[in-house]
Amino acid sequence: MKRSKRFLVVAGARPNFMKIAPIMHSFAKHNADFDKVVVKLVHTGQHYDRRMSDDFFSDLGILNPDINLAVGSGTHAEQTARVMVAFEQVCLEEEPDWVVVVGDVNSTLACSITARKLGINVAHVEAGLRSRDMSMPEEINRICTDAVSNLLFTTDELAGDNLRNEGVSVDRIDFVGNTMIDTLLRNLNKALSLPLPAGLREREFGVVTLHRPSNVDSVESLSPLFQAIQEIAARIPVVFPVHPRTRNSLQTFGLLNYGPNIRLVEPLSYIPFISLVSRACFVLTDSGGIQEETTVLKIPCLTMRNNTERPITCTLGTNTLVGTDPARIVSTAFHALNHGIGRSSIPPKWDGASGERIVAALLACVGIAASGSARAAQAAGVATP
Ligand code: UD1
Repeated sequence: MKRSKRFLVVAGARPNFMKIAPIMHSFAKHNADFDKVVVKLVHTGQHYDRRMSDDFFSDLGILNPDINLAVGSGTHAEQTARVMVAFEQVCLEEEPDWVVVVGDVNSTLACSITARKLGINVAHVEAGLRSRDMSMPEEINRICTDAVSNLLFTTDELAGDNLRNEGVSVDRIDFVGNTMIDTLLRNLNKALSLPLPAGLREREFGVVTLHRPSNVDSVESLSPLFQAIQEIAARIPVVFPVHPRTRNSLQTFGLLNYGPNIRLVEPLSYIPFISLVSRACFVLTDSGGIQEETTVLKIPCLTMRNNTERPITCTLGTNTLVGTDPARIVSTAFHALNHGIGRSSIPPKWDGASGERIVAALLACVGIAASGSARAAQAAGVATP
């Protein structure tokens, strides 16, 4: 009897869950092919708190992971190594034809390298993003993952340009759009139907997120940023769902003394978070994905970084890089409050159908769906980058 085609889809940390959901949903639509295709979801357990992980599965309507590696926190080397050791065993047992990884977290890097060394095909979703900032662990993860992946699914043409400039053959690149936006569009109505938390009014509050190690791990970097947030909050209420890393730092550096206009809350799950962002008058963040979500929601986004791997959110979208100088952060926030963002547009193929394109391409790679992209099918035969 002919062996089923087997896919392992990997997620590890909070931003991964929104990216894999549309892929899992699209695979589920091909139920009729399921005697020929087996798809399993592997959670590495890099994020493990209910608020950073489990709540997202229920919000996004994805089934519980088939396999949980439960690696937990650690140094970069410890975390990456634990995922590699555990995932190698999974690959040996499951014998997948393809491993699908998303984003740029340690789990993405660990699973792509492990699979490729076992001779398993790897597809990277959200390939080709580059901040050119090698002090970001995510940049190292992106470059290494792209280097070993057989098939590179990109969110925009600039990411494709980055890959081509690095010498990647065009056969390995497939511009499919943005699965994080699939998830946003699918859940937006549900998010908008939630009531706003008591005391907040539409377009009369800001949302803050902050968790990059370079911004939160030292008092010298966190204190001025928190000062800027307090100055903004003196003019308009600010909701700040706090990442565990940031809460630890705020506690350690004695910064938990703040005015009544800052609402520090636990990390929110997906739908309540989108509900807030879509009704805010601005977002102040150092996240990657939020730059993209605000572009589609047409909410001004002020990014507290000096670079971005997502420049299309600045050129087409609503994003402004404000760096980490508190005076500049405050003045740009006030400018956004007074004048809004001006014209912006939504990048091509950020249309809610990216998960479908990816699954069509992957099925074509294993010879199942004729509707898949021909280039992707060709790429499956490209064993060595
Ligand atoms: C990771 C990703 C980052 C992503 C972010 C989103 C890497 C290199 N970084 O960073 O790209 O933007 O997730 O959140 O993969 N912790 C908990 N509970 C959890 C998870 C983490 O308490 O469920 C705490 C631990 O103390 C841990 C710290 O948060 O040491 C940092 O977690 P970690 O996964 O190492 O990195 P993030 O900063 O979350």
